[in-house]
Amino acid sequence: MSAKITLEFVNGDVDAKPRSVTAEPEELLIDAARRSGLEIEATCGERGRCRSCRVKILAGNLPPPSIMDTVQLGHEEVQERFRLACQTRVTSDAKILIAPPKSEIGHKLMSLGGGRPEADHARMELDSGVTKYLINVELPDDENHQTSDEEEVLRQLPGDISATIPVEVLRQLPAALREQFGRVTVTTFLDEIIDIEAGDATGQKYGMAFDIGTTSVVGALIDLDTGVELVAVGGLNPQSPYGGDLMSRIAYVQEDPKRLQTLRAKILGALNGFIKEACEKADIDSRHIHKLVVVGNTCMHHIFVGIDPTYVGLAPYAPSVRRPIVLPGQELLLKTVPFARVCLLPIIAGFVGADTVAAALATRIYESEDYRALVDIGTNGEVVMGKRGRLMACSAPAGPALEGAQIRHGMRGALGAIEKVSIDGDIQCQVIGNTAPIGICGSGLIDGVAAMLDAGVLIESGLINIESRPKLTEKIARRLRVRNDRAEFVLSWSTESGNSEDISLNQSDIRQLQLAKGAICSGVMMLQNVLNIKNDQLKEVFLCGGFGNYISTRSAVRIRLLPSFPLDRVIYFGNAAGLGAKMVLLSEAERERATVLAREIEHVSLATHPDFQDIFVQALNFPPAQAEGGDEVDGAGNRQAGEVMTVR
Ligand code: FES
Repeated sequence: MSAKITLEFVNGDVDAKPRSVTAEPEELLIDAARRSGLEIEATCGERGRCRSCRVKILAGNLPPPSIMDTVQLGHEEVQERFRLACQTRVTSDAKILIAPPKSEIGHKLMSLGGGRPEADHARMELDSGVTKYLINVELPDDENHQTSDEEEVLRQLPGDISATIPVEVLRQLPAALREQFGRVTVTTFLDEIIDIEAGDATGQKYGMAFDIGTTSVVGALIDLDTGVELVAVGGLNPQSPYGGDLMSRIAYVQEDPKRLQTLRAKILGALNGFIKEACEKADIDSRHIHKLVVVGNTCMHHIFVGIDPTYVGLAPYAPSVRRPIVLPGQELLLKTVPFARVCLLPIIAGFVGADTVAAALATRIYESEDYRALVDIGTNGEVVMGKRGRLMACSAPAGPALEGAQIRHGMRGALGAIEKVSIDGDIQCQVIGNTAPIGICGSGLIDGVAAMLDAGVLIESGLINIESRPKLTEKIARRLRVRNDRAEFVLSWSTESGNSEDISLNQSDIRQLQLAKGAICSGVMMLQNVLNIKNDQLKEVFLCGGFGNYISTRSAVRIRLLPSFPLDRVIYFGNAAGLGAKMVLLSEAERERATVLAREIEHVSLATHPDFQDIFVQALNFPPAQAEGGDEVDGAGNRQAGEVMTVR
């Protein structure tokens, strides 16, 4: 069930022949290059701690950047399609340049401007704000000398650190000081003392970044000294049984204020579990996690802190707080990390929360000299559009379909999920883990519906057209059937699946997908409308989200998840909110930038806009197989030249 990938490596030598190699999906680029006979230098032992394995993806889908790509290569090189070969997994056919010369870094896609020298942006500076001091404290031993443990500790620390030790840390102090005869490690966050431990713990400085989505939660454990991501964790948001989307979760709380504590306990329990799991996998003590960054939409943010989200769900949908918040882990009841500082990014407005701020940071959209957009797809989708000096954002309530929920055979992007579907005389599915399929995740759903459109199985309104069978190939026609009075299309037969069931999409699945993609697309079209930007004025559209493994930009445009943008302008960016959270974990400068960004981005309310209904109806339908007359209408009400639609 797994499609092989063809990679073509070139090494920059004009006389050298390109080398082709077949790779498995998810294979590391560096391994594939070596199998092709080309050597890639790996100075740091493939740990993402140097730049020696740097490659440039010349053609093919661009794998989303990892935090180590961002740390080692810097934002500009990442946007110029450079990646670390030891950190990058292949997802599709691609042409790759090995060891590209430095002189290639000339073309700036998103210039920083201001004539900054190249060295300035080559790497992201690691400045987590967490500092550890190993000190030897003289224990008080003279009864006539008036002193205290606190004063003796402070005497050994630089003068710019706070003049007192917080009470919760003082409680640890007497035992810690005496365990190793006054040798202790003092941890500070900015200028505040947050922990004191016995002995030398200076080599253990860790942090975790969390993206709390309405349906899923993902986290990463990161070494704050090196920027290396040690472990990734994630799973379903355990609040999901209390409401699949934001409004139903808010309604759950509205009925009884005590329910806020139920939802809060669920997410805190999940985070404590993820922290424990990550520490076990990395073999570290959670005591050494001293900074957490948490991003999420406004509702997730409020529930996590313990603020009633009721009024976020009622017009005019105002949040209770927008500013950034920093709290000790123990105050938030995160018992696994009592001494860590938990940093929550600011909220923009309404449902457009800290996750959107993080995504804007990761994509650097605020530096763009041309119009760009980021489209963050999740149960609550968000769109940011604009350029340097003016950015607008809106929330697009898609529901959980694109994360695999409310789809009959839907599942998260985990082992056994169909993640890619292609059609060539028959249906081919690619499955995560290269195993027998047991369900379909978001990227597979988008591909599957695009394949149904290409085959002529679906019509523009979203109806599965059972009458189309005579026009289909025999194999495709067999997949189109009626079961229990419902039309459905089989992607994988029970003989091939891992649960002995046919895996199919039925009319109700298609309707759920239409509502989800219609919400996202209308968000994009609305911001185009407000900014009066035609499709061809958008230089790039970053498609972001952690659903499935990899979304096909062609399929996204084919089903009108996005308006008919030229495909070479749609860039899959992966989980931008998660990447932004990791950047803030590693850089206090990024955290400050987040505060400025949240103030500057203008919020657009979709539902109250007079053009919303018209735009939504248009966004709900699928585009014609071949744009008749070659035209589509964009959000700015302009006729656009038809493109990218092909019929097989
Ligand atoms: S080998 Fe050092 S970053 Fe890849």
